[in-house]
Amino acid sequence: MNIKNFENFKQFVSENNCKRCIIRCDLNLPSDIEDLSRVYAVKDTILFVADRGLQVILISHYKRPKLEDIDNPKFSLKQIVPSISKVLGRDVAFEKRSTFDIEPSEITAPITLLENLRFYEGETKNDDALAKRLARFGDVYINDAFSVSHRAHASVCAITKHLPSFAGLSMMREIEGITKATEDIKRPYAAIIGGAKVSTKIDVLKKLSLDADYLVVAGAMANTFLAVQGHDMKKSLIEPEQFETACEVMANAKAEIVLPTDFLVSPNATTDGVQCDLDDIPDDCGCFDIGEKSVARIIEIIDTSHTLLWNGTLGLFECANFQYSSRIVSKHVAERTKNAGLISITGGGETIASLGEYKPDMTFVSTAGGAFLEYIAGYELPGVMALSN
Ligand code: 3PG
Repeated sequence: MNIKNFENFKQFVSENNCKRCIIRCDLNLPSDIEDLSRVYAVKDTILFVADRGLQVILISHYKRPKLEDIDNPKFSLKQIVPSISKVLGRDVAFEKRSTFDIEPSEITAPITLLENLRFYEGETKNDDALAKRLARFGDVYINDAFSVSHRAHASVCAITKHLPSFAGLSMMREIEGITKATEDIKRPYAAIIGGAKVSTKIDVLKKLSLDADYLVVAGAMANTFLAVQGHDMKKSLIEPEQFETACEVMANAKAEIVLPTDFLVSPNATTDGVQCDLDDIPDDCGCFDIGEKSVARIIEIIDTSHTLLWNGTLGLFECANFQYSSRIVSKHVAERTKNAGLISITGGGETIASLGEYKPDMTFVSTAGGAFLEYIAGYELPGVMALSN
Protein backbone atom coordinates (compact mmCIF):
# COMPACT_ATOMS: atom_id res chain seq x y z
CA MET A 1 0.00 0.00 0.00
CA ASN A 2 1.18 3.49 -0.87
CA ILE A 3 1.04 5.71 2.17
CA LYS A 4 1.99 9.32 2.65
CA ASN A 5 5.34 8.75 4.29
CA PHE A 6 7.85 10.78 6.21
CA GLU A 7 9.67 11.90 3.05
CA ASN A 8 6.34 13.32 1.85
CA PHE A 9 5.99 15.05 5.20
CA LYS A 10 9.43 16.68 4.88
CA GLN A 11 8.58 17.92 1.42
CA PHE A 12 5.20 19.19 2.58
CA VAL A 13 6.64 21.24 5.45
CA SER A 14 9.40 22.63 3.27
CA GLU A 15 6.81 23.88 0.76
CA ASN A 16 4.23 25.13 3.25
CA ASN A 17 4.30 27.52 6.12
CA CYS A 18 3.54 24.99 8.87
CA LYS A 19 3.81 26.18 12.45
CA ARG A 20 2.32 23.38 14.52
CA CYS A 21 2.42 19.63 14.08
CA ILE A 22 0.19 17.15 15.85
CA ILE A 23 1.95 13.84 16.46
CA ARG A 24 -0.24 10.87 17.41
CA CYS A 25 1.92 8.69 19.65
CA ASP A 26 1.11 5.57 21.60
CA LEU A 27 2.08 6.36 25.18
CA ASN A 28 -0.06 3.52 26.48
CA LEU A 29 2.86 2.01 28.38
CA PRO A 30 2.60 -1.29 30.27
CA SER A 31 1.63 -0.63 33.90
CA ASP A 32 3.27 -3.44 35.81
CA ILE A 33 6.56 -3.51 33.92
CA GLU A 34 8.91 -0.60 33.29
CA ASP A 35 9.25 -0.41 29.51
CA LEU A 36 9.78 2.82 27.58
CA SER A 37 10.04 1.25 24.10
CA ARG A 38 7.00 3.19 22.88
CA VAL A 39 8.55 6.46 24.00
CA TYR A 40 11.88 5.66 22.34
CA ALA A 41 9.94 4.67 19.19
CA VAL A 42 8.59 8.20 18.66
CA LYS A 43 11.73 10.05 19.73
CA ASP A 44 13.21 10.52 16.23
CA THR A 45 9.99 11.86 14.76
CA ILE A 46 9.39 14.30 17.62
CA LEU A 47 12.94 15.64 17.60
CA PHE A 48 12.98 15.96 13.82
CA VAL A 49 9.77 17.99 13.85
CA ALA A 50 10.81 20.12 16.83
CA ASP A 51 14.22 20.81 15.31
CA ARG A 52 12.52 22.01 12.13
CA GLY A 53 11.09 24.77 14.31
CA LEU A 54 7.52 23.44 14.41
CA GLN A 55 5.63 23.48 17.65
CA VAL A 56 4.87 19.87 18.60
CA ILE A 57 1.51 18.82 20.02
CA LEU A 58 1.66 15.24 21.26
CA ILE A 59 -1.58 13.28 21.52
CA SER A 60 -2.13 9.78 22.86
CA HIS A 61 -4.56 7.55 24.70
CA TYR A 62 -3.69 5.83 27.96
CA LYS A 63 -5.40 2.61 29.08
CA ARG A 64 -9.19 2.31 28.87
CA PRO A 65 -10.68 4.84 31.30
CA LYS A 66 -14.39 5.41 31.75
CA LEU A 67 -15.66 8.97 31.41
CA GLU A 68 -15.95 9.29 35.18
CA ASP A 69 -12.21 8.58 35.53
CA ILE A 70 -11.35 12.02 34.17
CA ASP A 71 -9.87 13.21 37.47
CA ASN A 72 -8.29 9.90 38.39
CA PRO A 73 -4.50 10.40 38.20
CA LYS A 74 -4.12 6.68 37.40
CA PHE A 75 -5.42 7.44 33.90
CA SER A 76 -3.71 10.76 33.36
CA LEU A 77 -0.93 11.09 30.81
CA LYS A 78 0.71 13.56 33.18
CA GLN A 79 2.51 10.65 34.82
CA ILE A 80 4.31 9.89 31.53
CA VAL A 81 5.71 13.43 31.11
CA PRO A 82 8.95 12.82 33.08
CA SER A 83 9.70 9.71 30.98
CA ILE A 84 9.14 11.54 27.67
CA SER A 85 11.24 14.48 28.84
CA LYS A 86 14.03 12.14 29.86
CA VAL A 87 13.97 10.18 26.59
CA LEU A 88 13.78 13.33 24.43
CA GLY A 89 16.22 15.34 26.53
CA ARG A 90 13.75 18.25 26.25
CA ASP A 91 11.15 19.88 28.44
CA VAL A 92 7.65 18.64 27.74
CA ALA A 93 4.67 20.72 28.87
CA PHE A 94 1.37 19.10 29.80
CA GLU A 95 -2.14 20.38 29.06
CA LYS A 96 -4.86 18.88 31.23
CA ARG A 97 -7.71 21.03 29.92
CA SER A 98 -10.03 19.69 27.25
CA THR A 99 -9.37 20.92 23.70
CA PHE A 100 -13.00 22.12 23.75
CA ASP A 101 -12.12 24.50 26.61
CA ILE A 102 -8.97 26.08 25.25
CA GLU A 103 -7.77 27.77 22.09
CA PRO A 104 -4.69 26.58 20.21
CA SER A 105 -3.00 29.93 20.91
CA GLU A 106 -3.02 29.07 24.63
CA ILE A 107 -0.47 26.36 24.00
CA THR A 108 2.91 28.04 23.78
CA ALA A 109 5.61 25.52 24.79
CA PRO A 110 7.73 23.99 22.01
CA ILE A 111 6.53 20.48 22.95
CA THR A 112 3.21 19.89 24.72
CA LEU A 113 1.44 16.66 25.61
CA LEU A 114 -2.35 16.82 25.71
CA GLU A 115 -4.37 14.81 28.24
CA ASN A 116 -5.54 11.24 27.61
CA LEU A 117 -7.69 11.17 24.46
CA ARG A 118 -9.93 8.49 25.92
CA PHE A 119 -11.37 11.06 28.33
CA TYR A 120 -13.37 12.25 25.30
CA GLU A 121 -16.44 10.20 24.52
CA GLY A 122 -15.89 10.75 20.81
CA GLU A 123 -12.39 9.29 20.63
CA THR A 124 -13.30 5.61 20.41
CA LYS A 125 -16.36 6.48 18.27
CA ASN A 126 -14.18 8.08 15.59
CA ASP A 127 -16.25 11.19 16.15
CA ASP A 128 -15.81 13.89 13.55
CA ALA A 129 -16.55 16.82 15.88
CA LEU A 130 -13.72 15.73 18.17
CA ALA A 131 -11.41 15.14 15.21
CA LYS A 132 -12.15 18.63 13.92
CA ARG A 133 -11.50 20.16 17.32
CA LEU A 134 -8.17 18.32 17.71
CA ALA A 135 -7.18 19.29 14.17
CA ARG A 136 -7.38 22.98 15.10
CA PHE A 137 -4.26 22.48 17.21
CA GLY A 138 -2.04 21.76 14.18
CA ASP A 139 -1.41 22.61 10.52
CA VAL A 140 -0.19 19.12 9.80
CA TYR A 141 -0.64 15.68 11.38
CA ILE A 142 1.66 12.72 11.79
CA ASN A 143 0.54 9.27 12.89
CA ASP A 144 3.53 7.65 14.57
CA ALA A 145 1.48 5.11 16.47
CA PHE A 146 1.36 1.90 14.45
CA SER A 147 0.38 0.13 17.68
CA VAL A 148 -3.00 1.87 17.80
CA SER A 149 -3.65 1.95 14.06
CA HIS A 150 -5.94 -1.08 14.29
CA ARG A 151 -8.40 1.22 16.06
CA ALA A 152 -10.73 3.41 13.98
CA HIS A 153 -10.59 6.22 16.53
CA ALA A 154 -10.94 9.98 16.08
CA SER A 155 -7.25 10.76 16.68
CA VAL A 156 -6.18 7.99 14.31
CA CYS A 157 -8.72 8.09 11.46
CA ALA A 158 -11.25 10.97 11.46
CA ILE A 159 -8.55 13.58 12.10
CA THR A 160 -6.85 12.73 8.79
CA LYS A 161 -9.89 14.24 6.98
CA HIS A 162 -9.09 17.63 8.49
CA LEU A 163 -5.31 17.94 8.15
CA PRO A 164 -2.59 16.95 5.69
CA SER A 165 -1.58 13.61 7.23
CA PHE A 166 1.59 11.56 7.09
CA ALA A 167 3.24 8.50 8.62
CA GLY A 168 6.01 9.12 11.15
CA LEU A 169 9.37 7.40 11.28
CA SER A 170 8.29 4.78 13.79
CA MET A 171 5.16 3.98 11.76
CA MET A 172 7.35 3.54 8.65
CA ARG A 173 9.82 1.32 10.52
CA GLU A 174 7.03 -0.88 11.86
CA ILE A 175 5.32 -1.40 8.51
CA GLU A 176 8.57 -2.01 6.64
CA GLY A 177 9.98 -4.25 9.37
CA ILE A 178 6.94 -6.50 9.73
CA THR A 179 6.34 -6.66 5.97
CA LYS A 180 9.95 -7.55 5.20
CA ALA A 181 10.15 -10.14 7.94
CA THR A 182 6.88 -11.86 7.04
CA GLU A 183 6.57 -11.63 3.25
CA ASP A 184 9.18 -14.21 2.36
CA ILE A 185 9.15 -16.64 5.23
CA LYS A 186 12.03 -19.10 5.44
CA ARG A 187 10.85 -22.48 6.67
CA PRO A 188 10.61 -24.23 9.03
CA TYR A 189 8.48 -21.45 10.45
CA ALA A 190 7.56 -21.50 14.14
CA ALA A 191 5.10 -19.24 15.91
CA ILE A 192 4.84 -18.85 19.65
CA ILE A 193 1.65 -17.25 20.89
CA GLY A 194 1.36 -16.63 24.61
CA GLY A 195 -0.57 -14.29 26.85
CA ALA A 196 -3.66 -14.70 28.93
CA LYS A 197 -6.62 -14.87 26.59
CA VAL A 198 -7.54 -16.81 23.46
CA SER A 199 -10.31 -14.25 22.86
CA THR A 200 -7.78 -11.49 22.03
CA LYS A 201 -5.86 -13.61 19.51
CA ILE A 202 -8.44 -15.72 17.68
CA ASP A 203 -7.67 -14.56 14.14
CA VAL A 204 -3.95 -14.78 14.48
CA LEU A 205 -4.19 -18.26 16.03
CA LYS A 206 -6.33 -19.40 13.11
CA LYS A 207 -4.00 -17.88 10.54
CA LEU A 208 -0.79 -19.17 12.10
CA SER A 209 -2.25 -22.64 12.56
CA LEU A 210 -2.55 -22.75 8.77
CA ASP A 211 0.64 -20.87 7.78
CA ALA A 212 3.29 -21.96 10.28
CA ASP A 213 4.99 -25.33 10.65
CA TYR A 214 4.77 -25.20 14.45
CA LEU A 215 2.29 -23.25 16.52
CA VAL A 216 3.33 -23.16 20.17
CA VAL A 217 0.46 -22.03 22.40
CA ALA A 218 1.63 -20.95 25.84
CA GLY A 219 0.70 -18.52 28.61
CA ALA A 220 -2.68 -18.89 30.28
CA MET A 221 -4.36 -19.34 26.87
CA ALA A 222 -2.78 -22.80 26.67
CA ASN A 223 -4.98 -23.81 29.63
CA THR A 224 -8.07 -23.35 27.47
CA PHE A 225 -6.63 -25.59 24.72
CA LEU A 226 -5.64 -28.24 27.28
CA ALA A 227 -9.06 -28.10 28.97
CA VAL A 228 -10.65 -28.78 25.56
CA GLN A 229 -8.45 -31.87 25.29
CA GLY A 230 -9.96 -33.07 28.56
CA HIS A 231 -7.23 -32.12 31.05
CA ASP A 232 -8.35 -30.84 34.44
CA MET A 233 -6.59 -27.48 34.78
CA LYS A 234 -7.75 -27.10 38.39
CA LYS A 235 -7.59 -23.43 39.48
CA SER A 236 -5.95 -22.19 36.26
CA LEU A 237 -7.49 -19.41 34.20
CA ILE A 238 -9.55 -20.87 31.36
CA GLU A 239 -12.06 -19.37 28.92
CA PRO A 240 -14.93 -21.84 28.43
CA GLU A 241 -16.50 -19.48 25.86
CA GLN A 242 -13.41 -20.04 23.68
CA PHE A 243 -13.57 -23.86 23.71
CA GLU A 244 -15.11 -23.86 20.25
CA THR A 245 -12.35 -21.62 18.85
CA ALA A 246 -9.64 -23.76 20.42
CA CYS A 247 -11.30 -26.91 18.97
CA GLU A 248 -11.51 -25.31 15.54
CA VAL A 249 -7.86 -24.21 15.60
CA MET A 250 -6.71 -27.70 16.59
CA ALA A 251 -9.01 -29.51 14.14
CA ASN A 252 -8.06 -27.44 11.09
CA ALA A 253 -4.39 -26.84 11.83
CA LYS A 254 -1.78 -27.60 9.24
CA ALA A 255 0.89 -26.61 11.76
CA GLU A 256 1.91 -28.95 14.54
CA ILE A 257 0.17 -27.50 17.62
CA VAL A 258 2.51 -27.61 20.59
CA LEU A 259 1.01 -27.28 24.07
CA PRO A 260 2.77 -27.29 27.45
CA THR A 261 3.19 -30.63 29.18
CA ASP A 262 4.34 -29.28 32.52
CA PHE A 263 4.01 -26.10 34.60
CA LEU A 264 5.00 -24.01 37.55
CA VAL A 265 1.93 -24.19 39.75
CA SER A 266 0.94 -22.29 42.84
CA PRO A 267 -2.22 -21.66 44.90
CA ASN A 268 -1.89 -17.99 43.97
CA ALA A 269 0.50 -15.93 41.90
CA THR A 270 2.15 -14.43 44.95
CA THR A 271 3.85 -17.61 46.21
CA ASP A 272 6.71 -19.42 44.45
CA GLY A 273 5.75 -21.91 41.76
CA VAL A 274 6.40 -25.64 42.00
CA GLN A 275 7.23 -27.81 38.95
CA CYS A 276 4.42 -30.17 38.10
CA ASP A 277 3.30 -32.35 35.17
CA LEU A 278 0.11 -31.57 33.29
CA ASP A 279 -2.03 -34.24 34.90
CA ASP A 280 -0.64 -33.82 38.42
CA ILE A 281 -1.79 -30.26 39.14
CA PRO A 282 -2.87 -30.12 42.83
CA ASP A 283 -6.55 -29.31 43.40
CA ASP A 284 -5.84 -25.94 45.03
CA CYS A 285 -3.31 -24.76 42.40
CA GLY A 286 -3.32 -22.98 39.07
CA CYS A 287 -0.65 -22.84 36.34
CA PHE A 288 1.28 -19.57 36.20
CA ASP A 289 4.21 -20.53 34.01
CA ILE A 290 5.23 -23.42 31.81
CA GLY A 291 7.70 -25.96 33.17
CA GLU A 292 11.17 -27.21 32.24
CA LYS A 293 10.04 -29.97 29.83
CA SER A 294 7.83 -27.54 27.91
CA VAL A 295 10.67 -25.02 27.70
CA ALA A 296 13.02 -27.75 26.42
CA ARG A 297 10.49 -28.64 23.67
CA ILE A 298 10.21 -24.97 22.63
CA ILE A 299 14.01 -24.71 22.46
CA GLU A 300 14.12 -27.83 20.27
CA ILE A 301 11.58 -26.22 17.91
CA ILE A 302 13.54 -22.96 17.79
CA ASP A 303 16.68 -24.92 16.93
CA THR A 304 15.03 -26.51 13.89
CA SER A 305 13.36 -23.30 12.67
CA HIS A 306 14.55 -20.57 10.32
CA THR A 307 11.81 -18.09 11.19
CA LEU A 308 10.20 -17.43 14.55
CA LEU A 309 7.25 -15.20 15.24
CA TRP A 310 6.61 -14.54 18.92
CA ASN A 311 3.85 -12.63 20.68
CA GLY A 312 2.78 -13.00 24.27
CA THR A 313 4.66 -14.05 27.37
CA LEU A 314 4.87 -17.74 28.25
CA GLY A 315 4.00 -17.26 31.91
CA LEU A 316 2.62 -14.55 34.18
CA PHE A 317 5.61 -12.31 33.50
CA GLU A 318 4.47 -9.39 35.64
CA CYS A 319 5.11 -11.61 38.69
CA ALA A 320 8.82 -12.15 39.31
CA ASN A 321 8.14 -15.78 40.33
CA PHE A 322 6.85 -16.65 36.88
CA GLN A 323 9.38 -15.13 34.49
CA TYR A 324 11.42 -18.32 34.19
CA SER A 325 10.27 -19.63 30.80
CA SER A 326 10.05 -16.25 29.02
CA ARG A 327 13.59 -15.35 30.15
CA ILE A 328 15.15 -18.68 29.05
CA VAL A 329 13.36 -18.65 25.70
CA SER A 330 14.34 -14.96 25.10
CA LYS A 331 17.98 -15.79 25.74
CA HIS A 332 17.84 -18.75 23.39
CA VAL A 333 16.10 -16.84 20.60
CA ALA A 334 18.74 -14.10 20.92
CA GLU A 335 21.57 -16.63 20.64
CA ARG A 336 20.05 -18.39 17.62
CA THR A 337 19.39 -15.04 15.94
CA LYS A 338 23.00 -13.92 16.46
CA ASN A 339 24.75 -17.21 15.78
CA ALA A 340 22.52 -19.28 13.52
CA GLY A 341 20.69 -16.74 11.35
CA LEU A 342 17.25 -17.29 12.91
CA ILE A 343 14.81 -14.61 11.71
CA SER A 344 13.09 -13.57 14.94
CA ILE A 345 10.06 -11.30 14.82
CA THR A 346 8.48 -10.28 18.11
CA GLY A 347 5.91 -7.78 19.23
CA GLY A 348 3.67 -6.65 22.07
CA GLY A 349 4.30 -4.54 25.17
CA GLU A 350 4.78 -7.38 27.64
CA THR A 351 6.67 -9.53 25.17
CA ILE A 352 9.15 -6.69 24.66
CA ALA A 353 9.53 -6.29 28.41
CA SER A 354 10.19 -10.02 28.73
CA LEU A 355 13.01 -9.80 26.17
CA GLY A 356 14.95 -7.48 28.50
CA GLU A 357 18.62 -7.27 27.54
CA TYR A 358 18.05 -9.68 24.62
CA LYS A 359 15.84 -7.23 22.73
CA PRO A 360 18.62 -5.73 20.55
CA ASP A 361 19.50 -9.21 19.23
CA MET A 362 16.07 -9.84 17.69
CA THR A 363 15.66 -9.38 13.94
CA PHE A 364 12.61 -7.17 14.39
CA VAL A 365 10.75 -5.97 17.49
CA SER A 366 7.38 -4.30 17.03
CA THR A 367 6.11 -1.95 19.75
CA ALA A 368 2.60 -3.04 18.80
CA GLY A 369 0.49 -5.79 20.33
CA GLY A 370 -3.02 -5.95 18.84
CA ALA A 371 -2.02 -4.04 15.69
CA PHE A 372 0.95 -6.35 15.14
CA LEU A 373 -1.32 -9.39 15.37
CA GLU A 374 -3.99 -7.93 13.09
CA TYR A 375 -1.40 -6.94 10.51
CA ILE A 376 0.07 -10.44 10.57
CA ALA A 377 -3.42 -11.96 10.34
CA GLY A 378 -3.80 -10.05 7.07
CA TYR A 379 -6.16 -7.26 8.09
CA GLU A 380 -5.89 -3.74 6.74
CA LEU A 381 -5.41 -1.36 9.64
CA PRO A 382 -7.78 1.66 9.52
CA GLY A 383 -5.09 4.04 10.80
CA VAL A 384 -2.69 2.97 8.06
CA MET A 385 -5.43 3.05 5.41
CA ALA A 386 -6.23 6.63 6.46
CA LEU A 387 -2.71 7.64 5.43
CA SER A 388 -2.91 6.04 2.00
CA ASN A 389 -2.55 8.17 -1.06
C1 3PG B 1 -2.03 -1.32 22.65
O1 3PG B 1 -1.47 -1.29 23.75
O2 3PG B 1 -2.15 -2.37 21.98
C2 3PG B 1 -2.51 -0.03 22.06
O3 3PG B 1 -2.11 1.05 22.82
C3 3PG B 1 -4.01 -0.05 21.87
O4 3PG B 1 -4.65 -0.06 23.10
P1 3PG B 1 -6.17 -0.60 23.21
O5 3PG B 1 -6.09 -2.09 23.01
O6 3PG B 1 -6.63 -0.20 24.56
O7 3PG B 1 -6.94 0.05 22.09
